Amino acid sequence: MEYKLGLIGYPLGHSLSPWIHHEFLREAGLSGSYEKFEIAPGESFEDRISGFIESDIRGFNITVPYKETIIPFLDRIDDKAEKMGAVNTVLIEDGKLTGFNTDGSGYVRSLETAYPDLIANRDQKKVLLIGAGGAARGIYYALAATGYQMIDIANRTLTSAEKISQLTSEARTEVLSLAEAERNLDQYDIIIQTTSVGMEPESEISPIRPTKLKQDVIASDIVYKPLETKFLHDAASLGARVHHGHTMLLYQAQLAFEIWTGHKVPCEELAMQLKKILE
Ligand code: ATR
Repeated sequence: MEYKLGLIGYPLGHSLSPWIHHEFLREAGLSGSYEKFEIAPGESFEDRISGFIESDIRGFNITVPYKETIIPFLDRIDDKAEKMGAVNTVLIEDGKLTGFNTDGSGYVRSLETAYPDLIANRDQKKVLLIGAGGAARGIYYALAATGYQMIDIANRTLTSAEKISQLTSEARTEVLSLAEAERNLDQYDIIIQTTSVGMEPESEISPIRPTKLKQDVIASDIVYKPLETKFLHDAASLGARVHHGHTMLLYQAQLAFEIWTGHKVPCEELAMQLKKILE
């Protein structure tokens, strides 16, 4: 089988996904391709989707700004993606489209691959999520579904954090202001920075400034440009174990590739290569 895969979004300038999926195809010994399909504002989204169904594409990823736009065009949507209200992966089988969301579960897989000691004690770990946008939503839901039972959310806008906390009753959650979270940072075993603060070109800022951290804390940032955000830098200087954003990108891709091809390609080697590219 020839796996024709791709990415829909706009703009797609320097997406790393084609590189990642070509590496996966090569690793899995499969033939195929992964192309970028930009849909510019003003173009008919519906026409482009019909075009994909008529061609023999196996599936595609969807990124900004179409993760919600795609939903009415799907024949089926998996529970997680439905709960998220956002789809990042579509599988096409016999002309029928099924939507998935691998962002949150990809994040959890990346975290637990880096720190497997978490797996046996998920229910005892106190997690702080910083931010309450689309990324935080996916991560919160996936953490709760995996067995993390204490997940607080700190955000500039409290109402968005409260909405996320209502997604599931599987975790106990307190909603905090950023200032409150900063004061209580040493209570947490895992601190996950999900806001866009810290992305280029303002890489010197951080939504939270750590001053005191719990021993063995894991500080995680989903931003991968720059790889070493101000938040990670500050946390590392206080002794935190760090978890970089590029691995989320890889593991959400790994899960999508599994949906399309049934192959689970190991990512450890690729994570090191990608880190070098981004450093
Ligand atoms: P994504 O879908 O990538 O998560 P998003 O939905 O735009 O992006 O969410 C951005 C997150 O970054 C939000 O938590 C946002 O806080 P608000 O909900 O208060 O808007 C946070 N954010 C963005 N700029 C910020 C800033 N300057 N200071 C603090 N938080 C910020």
